[in-house]
Amino acid sequence: SRKVLFDTDPGCDDAVMLAVALGHDDVDVVGLSTVCGNTTVENTTRNAQAILELGGRDDVPVARGCARPLVDELATAEWVHGEGGIRGDLPYPEEEEVVESHGADFILEQAYEHGADLTIAAVGPLPNLALALAKEPDLPEIVGEIYVMGGAALAGGNVTPVAEANFHNDPAAASRVVQDAHAKMVGLDVTDSASIPFADIEEYEERGGAFDVVAEWLRYPTETLDVGEEGPAIHDAAVVADLIDPGVLDFEEYYCEIDTTGGPSHGSVICDQHDIYGEEPNTHVAVDIDVERYRETVEAGLEGYAAG
Ligand code: BDR
Ligand code: CA
Repeated sequence: SRKVLFDTDPGCDDAVMLAVALGHDDVDVVGLSTVCGNTTVENTTRNAQAILELGGRDDVPVARGCARPLVDELATAEWVHGEGGIRGDLPYPEEEEVVESHGADFILEQAYEHGADLTIAAVGPLPNLALALAKEPDLPEIVGEIYVMGGAALAGGNVTPVAEANFHNDPAAASRVVQDAHAKMVGLDVTDSASIPFADIEEYEERGGAFDVVAEWLRYPTETLDVGEEGPAIHDAAVVADLIDPGVLDFEEYYCEIDTTGGPSHGSVICDQHDIYGEEPNTHVAVDIDVERYRETVEAGLEGYAAG
């Protein structure tokens, strides 16, 4: 199975993604680094621990990461994800039990330990990964693969007409990552289609237990965002589906930059689709998603998670 470190800001769609990863035999979760984003890093760290606890996986180490973006002010999204940044009745630990290392250092420690066997999947704002890259520019050569959920390379944004939340929260960090990581960028271009049907969510509700909580995570945007008939888009879960079943996403290589200039397109992705700059491609941009395969993979993982 595939060794994966998740850098995450749970967050309801993060929680679904983690549940799928924890519940699927093909993923070996080596640890989590947490980051501010959907809520404060205090909350994302507690939420991460509660997600592990609910799945009977408190053996997975958690490292607390950045409390703020590198340059910009943090904009949290409790209004979407729920009070404390998550929905559902969760088994919170009495005390925060985190590893001693900071999230950015934990990423490097895991990279040195597992080398090319490790995949890094970052699904929140990117200050942890940016710091790790600043400390260790060879990180992309050391590990196997780096996935990033963020950006909207070809499609529109979700916090501004052109910028996606994770990148908009910390454009400086996103810029460092896009310049250095040669990452697989899984943006709104595909994750807007990564929906889970309402009928499936209702089925989970009927089954109760841990599925009840999972159903609340899946429903997260329905009260506050415009959700299509297909069902809510679970952005971060698109990453784990492609990790488990490569080919769920199709990628094309482009040269990309992040706008960090503070203007109206701050935090957006400038994707050189037509090779106007003539630069070497630096990013694998996800351009298509096989929604059926995505849903099957999510379902399989959630079964394993709820079984504990
Ligand atoms: C991303 O922003 C966060 O709100 C979600 O957890 C996801 O990582 C989608 O834009
Ligand atoms: Ca996230």
